[in-house]
Amino acid sequence: MARRFTSLALVLFAAAPFAILLAKQDPQQDLKCEDVYTNIKVFKGVPANDLIPTMEFMAASMKWECKDCHDTTDYTKESHAIETTRQMVLLQRDINEKWFNGRLEVTCMTCHNGEEHPINIPTPDGTNLRHGRMSNPPKPAEIFAKHVTAAGKAPVMLTRTGKLTSPDLETGEIKTEPLEVVQAEGGKFRLAAGSKVVVSDGAQVTYGGVLMWGEPVAVFQRIGRTWWGDGPFSGLAGNAVSGKDRVGDSDVVVVKGTRTSTGSTEDLYFDIKTGLLVRMVNIRRTSVGSVVTTFDYEDYKTVDGTAVPMKLTVTFAGGQKWEMKFESSKTSTTIDESLFKID
Ligand code: HEC
Ligand code: HEC
Repeated sequence: MARRFTSLALVLFAAAPFAILLAKQDPQQDLKCEDVYTNIKVFKGVPANDLIPTMEFMAASMKWECKDCHDTTDYTKESHAIETTRQMVLLQRDINEKWFNGRLEVTCMTCHNGEEHPINIPTPDGTNLRHGRMSNPPKPAEIFAKHVTAAGKAPVMLTRTGKLTSPDLETGEIKTEPLEVVQAEGGKFRLAAGSKVVVSDGAQVTYGGVLMWGEPVAVFQRIGRTWWGDGPFSGLAGNAVSGKDRVGDSDVVVVKGTRTSTGSTEDLYFDIKTGLLVRMVNIRRTSVGSVVTTFDYEDYKTVDGTAVPMKLTVTFAGGQKWEMKFESSKTSTTIDESLFKID
């Protein structure tokens, strides 16, 4: 902040064209912007003395400098940014007049908050929706294939036991409970945490014996989804590499696709070195905005030829976390169907 202030002060006191502008607006208090400046469209009727502080406010709201909108050798010159900004001034006025009785409630800062592109999706700390540009990115299919090879053979049934740390749904207090997660071919899974049991026979999902529907089902299906074999990738459409990023200490490449069964967008983060999936970010659109849920797969361990993440963290849009830490993991060659039965 202090540094920016200095750079503005430099412009104000050192730049020659500026000295002229300052001189122009000096003597008469009642001069309007259009009396003093050349290309005034939206600030007509605004006191000329307000123009520079107005500029300072707009620049500060976006963490921009004068030069990001102006040719600083000639402030009267038009630019694309100036024209867009005029639209923004009108937008701000409209909102305040229509919805806030003309009070100055919504400003550039309300939306931009120091960003060129306002953030319109709440994301928990550490989850980025924009990724670094990559020159010559690999093809999504190559990335998926590398993961499938690194993940090893899909187990017929896998049982992991450990602990779940999560906020209590009623009190919000963080609690740790014993956890057992069993997964089997065909999307079957069973998640038992403390006294609560979520079961899926591959088609339906129940919670405490009651059939669930809608988005909560999708949330558990995401938790229960395995990343062995091609299945999870073949359910994605329109795949494209969206860039590179970092997760913890690892460089990752991100593939974006749409899961056809839910319509959600998924960002899949693959460790460039190991090829393994380390994060999945689910982005679900609603009529007011998108909801982001992050799944982190960590501590991969090889169990009977299968790479198994021994830690899974689900981070919800508001930052709440479900942390599943597994202590043991075993595979079986047959499915115990009774575990996945839905009555
Ligand atoms: C976000 C874009 C933006 C930034 C950043 C910005 N300006 Fe402006 N500036 C505008 C717009 C838009 C106008 C025209 C206003 C109108 O149409 O009424 C303008 C007009 C001006 C004018 C009047 C030019 C004329 O036609 O005579 C001056 C002087 C000026 N700005 C100075 C500055 C200074 C100094 C800064 C840095 C502190 C700055 N501006 C930063 C958008 C910006
Ligand atoms: C109600 C929310 C809102 C308000 C208020 C608002 N903006 Fe914006 N602004 C946006 C959105 C949304 C975009 C488009 C963002 C994008 O392209 O990612 C945008 C785009 C812009 C851009 C173009 C950025 C680019 O590089 O494409 C500029 C410049 C800008 N705003 C300046 C301002 C200024 C200055 C103000 C205050 C006078 C303002 N905005 C007020 C929401 C707002």
